[in-house]
Amino acid sequence: MTEQTAQTEFDATSPDSARGPRISVVGTGYLGATHAAAMAELGFDVIGVDVDPAKVEALSAGKVPFYEPGLPELLVRGVESGRLRFTTDLAEAAAFADVHFVCVGTPQRPGSNGADLRYVEAAFEGLAQHLTHDALLVGKSTVPVGTGARMAARVREIAPAGLRVELAWNPEFLREGKAVHDTLSPDRVVVGGASQWGDDLLRQVYARPLSTGTPFIATDLPTAELVKVSANAFLATKISFINAISQVCDKAGADVTVLSDALGHDVRIGRQFLNAGLGFGGGCLPKDIRALMHRAGELGADSLVALMQDVDEINMWQRQRVIDMAVQACGGSVLNRRIGVLGAAFKPDTDDVRDSPALNVAAGLHLRGAQVVVYDPEAGETSRRMFPTLTYGTSTEEAVTDADVVLVLTEWPVFRQADPTQLLALTRPGATVIDARNCLPADAWRQAGWTYRGLGAAR
Ligand code: UGA
Repeated sequence: MTEQTAQTEFDATSPDSARGPRISVVGTGYLGATHAAAMAELGFDVIGVDVDPAKVEALSAGKVPFYEPGLPELLVRGVESGRLRFTTDLAEAAAFADVHFVCVGTPQRPGSNGADLRYVEAAFEGLAQHLTHDALLVGKSTVPVGTGARMAARVREIAPAGLRVELAWNPEFLREGKAVHDTLSPDRVVVGGASQWGDDLLRQVYARPLSTGTPFIATDLPTAELVKVSANAFLATKISFINAISQVCDKAGADVTVLSDALGHDVRIGRQFLNAGLGFGGGCLPKDIRALMHRAGELGADSLVALMQDVDEINMWQRQRVIDMAVQACGGSVLNRRIGVLGAAFKPDTDDVRDSPALNVAAGLHLRGAQVVVYDPEAGETSRRMFPTLTYGTSTEEAVTDADVVLVLTEWPVFRQADPTQLLALTRPGATVIDARNCLPADAWRQAGWTYRGLGAAR
């Protein structure tokens, strides 16, 4: 959208302001940085806030401090246009913006399944304290149901008297690796707890996606909060379901990939998130199902607690299953055996290694005495920071050289497209490949001379 179009659209609904509401985004991680850049792309004046001065400095210089395809271009455009800037000063953001999106992290609390809400609380309280004019505060972070109502009460207590200050929840559904697309073209916009005024403001913010038919679902705070966690819980359940089925496939000699394809033709089921393998990780699904388990327990919703517990257990067991396969491929012990690990990120197209199943398996084998060499096209640095004791290679070839066993743990295209004949020439004789994402062309690898093992893959 050109600046001109944005102005025309917003002039119609917001006569007081040339470009519609001014926006702040508090927290500039994967979610916030993308949201801030996307809002600037839509034509708004945006200020991003973060407590980390290094992040603010990088973003201000148009540099994205993590790997997210398409985001650097969007960020540079926003910064160069003058519509997007960053600060560490929450008071500056409070004085500047009309709509404030809170995008801070809600990690798992140490020693508990519950979510750590201290950053959310600090963001809302800090904003409320510094407001100088009417404002809509919008939660985007994933939170336990009930948080929005609690924050709304807190904000009412703290905000200066005489101002119109409201709170709404607008959960985010973006996927890492596809964050720019998901933010500019969301498949739905969910808004909880907004008054008519708040509703109007958010319809202005999302005018462009709404104009292309994106559904706008206006509801109450608890429903909006629960939509988000239910979506992630359902996705996690789908993955654990297919992984449990893959275990049956292993025992029965069936092929889980063919099975998933066949299931996927039923539109009620759908093919997505039915890829059996090493299971889910990342900064969202694992901690979100645990936080849901915790909150459901507090609310006495016991059947959901039991369901999420099973989903989590099946998922974590996949990691053990792959470690066991590697041990078996090495004849019962990995001690002093060379293992090449392809993939460290929790999924392709990201350098995020938070709760990465791949790194978990690599570290597990390392701790059992294997000589592990890990290669990931983007997550080398983030992995090294998380697990400095592992050895990291700089290419697929380096990771597989002299290996007894090669594990494919993240389905990057570069691994899927690798030439199995060339790679086998680098390994020790009789090498096994464990395709823990069922992503390789199994026949081609077998024909090249590899012993191929997948999860739930017919022999
Ligand atoms: C997830 C949700 O998909 C987003 O909608 C949500 O907004 C986001 O969490 C969030 O809460 O912020 P993300 O964490 O980026 O997004 O990752 P996903 O694409 O959901 O993948 C999660 C994990 O599931 C990955 O480790 C992936 O390898 C695994 N997965 C995915 C499978 O094992 N099998 C599949 O079929 C699909």
